[in-house]
Amino acid sequence: MALSTSGASTTALMAAIILLLLLLGGSAEYSVNSEIPKSDVDLLEFPLNLEYLEAEFFSWGALGRGLDAFAPELTKGGPPPLGARMAKLSPLIKDIIAQFAFQEFGHLRAIQKTVPGFPRPLLNISAASFANIMNNAFEKPLVPPFDPYANDINYLLASYVIPYVGLTGYVGANPELLSPTARRLVAGLLGVESGQDAVLRALLYERALVKVFPYDITVAEFTDKISSLRNKLGMDGIKDEGLIVEPALGAEGRISGNVLVGDQYSLSFGRTPEEILRIVYGSGRESVPGGFYPRGADGKIAKSHLGR
Ligand SMILES: *[C@@H]1O[C@H](CO)[C@@H](O)[C@H](O)[C@H]1NC(C)=O
Repeated sequence: MALSTSGASTTALMAAIILLLLLLGGSAEYSVNSEIPKSDVDLLEFPLNLEYLEAEFFSWGALGRGLDAFAPELTKGGPPPLGARMAKLSPLIKDIIAQFAFQEFGHLRAIQKTVPGFPRPLLNISAASFANIMNNAFEKPLVPPFDPYANDINYLLASYVIPYVGLTGYVGANPELLSPTARRLVAGLLGVESGQDAVLRALLYERALVKVFPYDITVAEFTDKISSLRNKLGMDGIKDEGLIVEPALGAEGRISGNVLVGDQYSLSFGRTPEEILRIVYGSGRESVPGGFYPRGADGKIAKSHLGR
């Protein structure tokens, strides 16, 4: 009796082990693997740079701590960000940004599970770094300097600077990808990234005509200037638009409200890694690091431009 029970449970155990092995074997193609062509690996690693930036900015902004506190394994030993701070946020915005932070952790995990990746690059997310972008956007120093961490509106404007660039990068990468695994990953990243951009834009749109304290400048004007700066730095025409535009730039060329950005067919714009580097370095040159990346971005594509 006892013997046959143990025989039955041994059989059950064996079956469980075989099932487990089958499951592991079946899922291997979705983990770090050699089936992804090298060009896809490079294109999937590049956005890690932006995902690290978003993860740290949102996590610090909402929760006062970053990857080192919540998911140190995702940093792969890269240096902590410079100048990161907790922002003064209302409960609603804090809640939304905390969700964005954990979404970015998930994105880092998804990319790192698919390609080898690289450690977190040095990031400069100090108030001065954002103040610098705003000064460049307005082509004059704002007085006092813009503080991204001061309140909801400032933090939302600072956030306006980030996911949209990732979004255009995913749209730009998609037609270059060869493997279904890479395309599936990029589609999934693009979906949530554009969702974040839409949430940020909708929150800002609600406040479009509000003056950003203490400047005599509205939220809509800020978005317009930031987008113009990105178009200038990217150097490939208009791929960025503020919240209120000439009707000619709105959907179907017929409306000036511009809660979402799109081309003449209301399709998202795509940017190349080089355009993105020119923007996030703030230098207008993919070979000249700066801005959020004082030592440059990592990965084969970004490094191929450094030191030229
Ligand atoms: C961070 O950015 C600010 C503003 O551009 C700059 O003054 C500071 O030197 C930067 N820090 C580093 C280490 O590059």
